[in-house]
Amino acid sequence: MSKKLPLQTTRSVTPVAAYHQDLLLRDGTLLRLRALRPSDRDGLKALFHRCSPESIRYRFLSTIKSLPVELLDRLVKVDGATQLALVVVPLEEPENRIIAVGRYHVIADRPQVAEVAFLVEDDFQKRGIGTQLLDALAEIARAHDITHFSADVLVDNLVMISVFRKAGYALTSSASYGVTHLEFPLLDKADPA
Ligand SMILES: CC(C)(COP(=O)(O)OP(=O)(O)OC[C@H]1O[C@@H](n2cnc3c(N)ncnc32)[C@H](O)[C@@H]1OP(=O)(O)O)[C@@H](O)C(=O)NCCC(=O)NCCS
Repeated sequence: MSKKLPLQTTRSVTPVAAYHQDLLLRDGTLLRLRALRPSDRDGLKALFHRCSPESIRYRFLSTIKSLPVELLDRLVKVDGATQLALVVVPLEEPENRIIAVGRYHVIADRPQVAEVAFLVEDDFQKRGIGTQLLDALAEIARAHDITHFSADVLVDNLVMISVFRKAGYALTSSASYGVTHLEFPLLDKADPA
C-alpha cells in the first residue's frame, strides 16, 4: 500500500477520534472533515431535519419523518474500529453544524467487509463531498485491515452508484426488492491491479 494516513489510525479508539483534515471542494469552499464525536448527537439530528424527504429515503432506504432515539443512539455510538463515522463541518464556528456524514460498520461475520452509508445535506450535494468522504473512509478502512466495502442503495439512487463507480472501484451488484447491494474491493487505486 503506498498511501499513508495523515494521522495514525490503529485498532484503538483514540487515534481515529483525533482524525481531521481540511476538505477543499471543487468550487473553492473549504470545510473540515473530522471524526464524529459523542457531542455531535444534536448536530446529527439537525442534519436529518434539514435534509429533504428524498435524501432521507435514499439514506435509510425508506421514508422516515424523524430519527427514533434508538437509531440516533446507534448513529452516535461508534467505537472507532468496527464502527466509524466522519463528519463534514464548516471550517469556522459553529463547528457542531454537520453538513455531511459518512460511516462504516464491519459486518459481524465478515470482519474484512464493512458496510458504508452517506448523507450529505441537500444544499451541499453534487459538490464532491460524498466522493471525498468515500476516499477518507476507504483510507482508514484499509489501515484497519478492511478489504471490501459494501452498500445497500435504492435502485434509483444513481448519484450514489456513480460516486462509487467514478471512484474507480470494481463493483459487483445484485438487486432485490428495489435495493441494489453493492460490494467492492478497497484496492489501493494508486497501485497497479
Ligand atoms: C449520494 C450522496 C452521498 C453523494 O454525495 P455528493 O456529495 O452529492 O456526491 P459527489 O458530489 O461527490 O458526486 C456526485 C456525482 O454524481 C454525479 N451525478 C449527479 N447527478 C447524477 C445523476 N442523475 N445520475 C448519475 N450521476 C449523477 C455527478 O456528476 C457527480 O460526479 P462528479 O464527480 O463527476 O461530479 C449524496 O448525494 C446524498 O447524501 N444523497 C442522499 C443520501 C444517499 O443517497 N445516501 C446513500 C446511501 S448509502
